[in-house]
This record gives sequence, C-alpha cells and structure tokens, in this order.
Amino acid sequence: MKKHTVLVSGGAGYIGSHTAVELVEAGFDVVIADNLSNSDLGAVEGVRRITGVEVPFVEVDCCDREALRTRLFEAYDFDSVIHFAASKAVGESVRKPLEYYRNNLDSFLNVVDLMRAWGRPNILFSSSCTVYGEPDRQPVTELTPRKPATSPYGNTKQICEDILRDTVAASEGLRGIALRYFNPIGAHPSALIGELPRGVPQNLLPYITQTAAGLRECLSVFGDDYPTPDGSNIRDYIDVTDLARAHVAAVRRMIEGRCKEPYEVFNIGTGHGVSVLELIRRFEQANGLKLNYRIAGRREGDIVAIWADPTRANEELGWHARRNLDDTLRAAWAWEKHVRGME
Ligand code: UFG
Repeated sequence: MKKHTVLVSGGAGYIGSHTAVELVEAGFDVVIADNLSNSDLGAVEGVRRITGVEVPFVEVDCCDREALRTRLFEAYDFDSVIHFAASKAVGESVRKPLEYYRNNLDSFLNVVDLMRAWGRPNILFSSSCTVYGEPDRQPVTELTPRKPATSPYGNTKQICEDILRDTVAASEGLRGIALRYFNPIGAHPSALIGELPRGVPQNLLPYITQTAAGLRECLSVFGDDYPTPDGSNIRDYIDVTDLARAHVAAVRRMIEGRCKEPYEVFNIGTGHGVSVLELIRRFEQANGLKLNYRIAGRREGDIVAIWADPTRANEELGWHARRNLDDTLRAAWAWEKHVRGME
C-alpha cells in the first residue's frame, strides 16, 4: 500500500510537533516545515527521538511562495498538508494587526494555492473555538453561529476558514477540513516535546507550570466575579496528544474519501468545562504541590465560558478525547521540569 506523506507546516511548534509524532506512529511519512519564528529546532529533535524516524525538516517561511514551491512542492510528494504555521497571540495581534493579517493570511493563501496548482488534494486547517466568540448557549456545536472576531488573530482564523471553504467549493478534487481547537494543554508523555512559550506566558497552563518551577512568582487569576459557579472563567482543556490524534483521524478521512462535504468543520474538545480555579486545584493535587496564586482583575477580551460539543468529531472522525485531566496535568509538569533541568 502506498505510504502517504503529510506536510506539516508549523511542525516545530507546540501542536505541530505533537501531531508529527502521532502521524509517524500511525504510519505516515511526515515533512516538517517551519520558519522557527516562534519555535525551536529542539521540537524537531524531540519528534525524531520519540519516533526513531529521521523526519525531514525544511526551514522555510510559508509567506515565501517561491521557496515553498521549490523546497517543498518540488522536493516532496505529499498529498496532504496540515497547516499550523501562524502567529497566535491574541494581545499581540491587537497591537500589530497588519503583521498578523500578512503572516497568517499570506502563508495560508500560498499553501492553498500551491496545493490546488500541484493537484495535492487534502488541506487540514488549524482553527480555533475563538471563531464562536462568546456563545449564547453551551456547549457549542459546529452549527453554533460564528460571532464577529474580537481580535485580528481571531479574524484570521475566520478568514482562513472562509478561504478554504470557498476554494474547495470551486476546485474539483480539493478537500478541506478545519479543526476548531478548544484549549490545548499538556505534553507528550515522554517529556521530550511540550509547550515552550517565549517570554512571559500568555496562556494559563504554561504560566501555572512556570510558577510551580519558580520562574514566575505568582499566577494571576484573571477574575473571580464572572457568572460561573466559582466566579472564574470556564474552558474546555484538551490534551495536546488527543488533539494531535484528531489530525490523524481527519487526514485519514480525506485520504480514504470519507468526507461528506468538500469542506468540513469539527470541534476538537473534551465536552467538559473546567474553571480556572478548578484547574489550579487539580494541578496541585495531581502533582502534590502548592501553587502561589492570587485573584487579579479581569483580562480584557476574555469570554466567560466555552466548552465543546464534540459529538460530530466522535461520530464522524471516530475520535474521542481519552487522556484524563490529571495525567495531562502531570505531563505538563514533567515537561516543565525537563525543560528547566529539574530532574
Ligand atoms: N488565565 C489566568 N491567568 C493567566 C492566564 C490565563 O487566569 O495568567 C485565564 C484566562 O483569563 C482564561 C483562562 O485562563 O479564563 C484560559 O486562558 P488562556 O490564555 O490559556 O486561553 P484562552 O481561552 O484565553 O485562549 C485560547 C487560545 C487562543 C484562542 C482562544 C479562544 O490560547 O488562541 O482560546 O477563546 F483564541
């Protein structure tokens, strides 16, 4: 049987590297492309060590169409792409909108255009539950209406979804899937890859693990006066290895011709909402430590609560989140300790 090759753009990043591992372990050939603007070659090394496969890596910026063409499309015979490569900091996108639109849209336009031109049929796009904004009802299904984006970052996710939808509709043989991730957390159980933000972490779990490691003095909980049972925000925290497996399932669906529509969307979450304060408690319990935290004011732009209805992914992709939260929180801490040389 033909071995399928998958191009993973942004494959040196957090979700990309975990997905590369799952793809290799599922029997795919993988090519990682990344411009290393917000990622590290160490992640590629980690993928190679975990899988025992010398996964090829190409340092390239997806905004450079000519480089993409010659160094990836001419050089490798992939029939699927998973496009992760994008900037992802909500706050930064508000300060630097043009950079965000240029980077996230140019790179995706190039990838989609080249896939079409070279007759490479399967495009998987890394989207986000941010497209739902503050939902009127929980949990959100794929039929929950999208809300106008509240940041340029969120807007790029919506625009890229639309670019994919419209392009596959107009191109015979092209298929697209957008996976809307909820909040990815955790790390590979080997502790060889994980989340490694540059500078001060913006996301909750890396801030928690860095505080536990003593790099940050105190975690600020952004608000305890929201209309939720304990007053803190509620999110659907999905283990990054579970999320990575969802990509394998989605790529298989496209390769095996099981898509029901040329363009499909799936929520990738656990279906359970967990509050910030609850997550802190669970982290402390799972790892047997105490975290220094304080209640701070609300962070601008935060939505109150969101969690997924993952039924469509469960039924259509045959995918389920299966790692329990305590294991995920232990893996996140093991990774932080590994990175800081604490073991
Ligand atoms: N939080 C804190 N303290 C921190 C960091 C976060 O209390 O130091 C809280 C936030 O207020 C929020 C929760 O932890 O309630 C989760 O915050 P994250 O920043 O980890 O995640 P978000 O839900 O804000 O953002 C995530 C992705 C974005 C995506 C967004 C969609 O990181 O890429 O979901 O809602 F756009």
